[in-house]
Amino acid sequence: MPFTPDAALDLLFPEELIPQHVKDELPSDLHIRPLASTDYDRGHLAVLNVLSQTPDVGADGWTTQFHDLRDTPATYYILVVVSRETDQIVASGGVFIERKFLRALGRVGHIEDIAVAREMQGKKLGLRIIQALTHISEGVGCYKTILDCSDANMPFYEKCGFEKRGNEMAKYG
Ligand code: ACO
Repeated sequence: MPFTPDAALDLLFPEELIPQHVKDELPSDLHIRPLASTDYDRGHLAVLNVLSQTPDVGADGWTTQFHDLRDTPATYYILVVVSRETDQIVASGGVFIERKFLRALGRVGHIEDIAVAREMQGKKLGLRIIQALTHISEGVGCYKTILDCSDANMPFYEKCGFEKRGNEMAKYG
């Protein structure tokens, strides 16, 4: 598939929110942009599969979810890295914005679902996604940006400037 420029896409949020320095630091054959309404066809679910089971929900289910996220204003920011050669997604990650009553109506950014295609790992794509998501989180006024990860991934997040604070608790239904 030929590369699709941002102007021809229906994006989840304005692409200007992605910092220029992150765009500049990506290899020239890759492009970072917001998730687009047609990214089901660019292998979005296949990339998420490196992180957790991601069954194929079909184009209709995926597209309904995309519109539900976009219809919740200023809350969901999902980025993808796309190959300019294949127009396929090679990495993805998101931050969602929680609105609180404490801290004078404070906001917290929750980083979720960072996934880099296996053959693309180790090329700083994860780092660039975290830099962009943190910039967006801070740009919309979050007083902190947090995430849960495995012990094995802690060194990666430390390289991205995060530090361990507290413990995760979970109850799966
Ligand atoms: N252990 C130690 N160091 C690591 C690890 C690791 N597991 N992963 C990356 N690093 C280091 C790299 O060596 C690099 O260090 P350097 O700057 O000294 O060279 C730095 O962290 C940046 O690494 P990137 O190249 O940006 O890492 P990558 O693009 O491979 O992305 C990621 C890392 C996201 C963990 C990727 O390997 C991946 O998708 N893994 C499978 C899915 C996953 O576990 N996702 C994270 C779940 S947690 C969450 O989503 C909040």
